[in-house]
Amino acid sequence: MQAMKVIFVLSLTLAVAVDARSALGAPKPLEGADLSAAKDLLTTTLTKVAAGDGPSYQVVNVISVSSQLVAGSLHKFQTELSNGSDNKECIVKIWNRPWLAAKGISTNVKIQCKDEPEIDTTW
Ligand SMILES: *[C@@H]1O[C@H](CO)[C@@H](O)[C@H](O)[C@H]1NC(C)=O
Repeated sequence: MQAMKVIFVLSLTLAVAVDARSALGAPKPLEGADLSAAKDLLTTTLTKVAAGDGPSYQVVNVISVSSQLVAGSLHKFQTELSNGSDNKECIVKIWNRPWLAAKGISTNVKIQCKDEPEIDTTW
């Protein structure tokens, strides 16, 4: 009887572990249509940063993008951005949590360009 209980608890733990893995998952590199959608996300996000009090960056080149399901979705771009005069290597992280839209904090953007202070903005 005790053994049955242990097996039941074990399989329950396994099921939860497998679930958590598929729901949360490791960052995965994007390609094809997912990559195009991610590039659009980057462009529109940089436009919003510029429209706020952030700097104005244009995308020069996207080197790689990964997305990860966390609480919401997290896109991480390795990219080259231009501030109008200089190109910079930057890491851009866009974290979307649509259910926080009513509070006005559904999108968090972090832009870390080489030799620049990090920009961290939320809307
Ligand atoms: C772009 O970045 C360079 C180097 O950090 C800086 O000297 C320049 O003033 C910036 N240009 C604009 C338009 O912000």
